[in-house]
Amino acid sequence: MLSLKNITKKFGDKRIIDNVSFEVQPGEVAVLLGASGVGKSTILRLLNNLETLNQGIVTFEGKKLDLESMHTNQTIGMIFQQFNLFEHLSVRENVTIAMRTVLGKSAKAADKIANDLLKRYDLTDKVDSSPSALSGGQKQRLSLARALAMRPKILCMDEPTSALDPVLTGYVAQEITDLAKDGLVVLIATHDIKLLEQLACTVHLMDKGKIVESGTMHSITSSPNKHPKISAFIKG
Ligand SMILES: Nc1ncnc2c1ncn2[C@@H]1O[C@H](COP(=O)(O)OP(=O)(O)OP(=O)(O)O)[C@@H](O)[C@H]1O
Ligand SMILES: [Mg+2]
Repeated sequence: MLSLKNITKKFGDKRIIDNVSFEVQPGEVAVLLGASGVGKSTILRLLNNLETLNQGIVTFEGKKLDLESMHTNQTIGMIFQQFNLFEHLSVRENVTIAMRTVLGKSAKAADKIANDLLKRYDLTDKVDSSPSALSGGQKQRLSLARALAMRPKILCMDEPTSALDPVLTGYVAQEITDLAKDGLVVLIATHDIKLLEQLACTVHLMDKGKIVESGTMHSITSSPNKHPKISAFIKG
């Protein structure tokens, strides 16, 4: 289980994340939902050591996570909204580079893992292309393959469907569901209601740096009155 307890992040004297606590079980998809600027990405960035915590504790499988350690950085994978692919490397090299430089895998071993992942995500005919030659959906799948190559236990995805049409959004929802079924902890930041509607997930609604309401999508759909704020957000 991933547990965040009393997480606080300030920029200057503004509390951008204000005493946030929540848990995510292996196999669970958790969604941080909320309007622009409420702090969704900042929580993912804190977990991925792209920002430093001011207060709070993060634990995984009962042990405190040192977010600045190399080991933790391998435990937690991140897929960025803009993908952040390495444009000067080929599609295959995008997947192999961290396996080689961080995990110390041989070129042959890394290529094998990359080829399997790129096959799974239907990118076999693009392995030698530049990421700039990929469509939005293909870039999304490459960023997923690149993150999974490091075998993370926790996967953070920032607005995974912001660049995608409704059909591709459906595919991504299915991919996310499959990854969670494999036992991954999946944490998503989004305001995409179309994605939400296709996920069996737990929703944490954020406002001004706080979680203001939580519930499972099942409960939100069947008993919207129990979740007035989330229901109102979904209705727009
Ligand atoms: N490095 C920074 N320095 C100062 N303020 C920051 C920094 N990063 C984020 N913020 C502020 O923190 C708040 C939360 O930003 P964040 O990116 O987490 O929002 P978000 O919920 O992901 O929004 P969006 O839906 O637009 O992606 C915003 O007001 C933003 O301006
Ligand atoms: Mg964001």
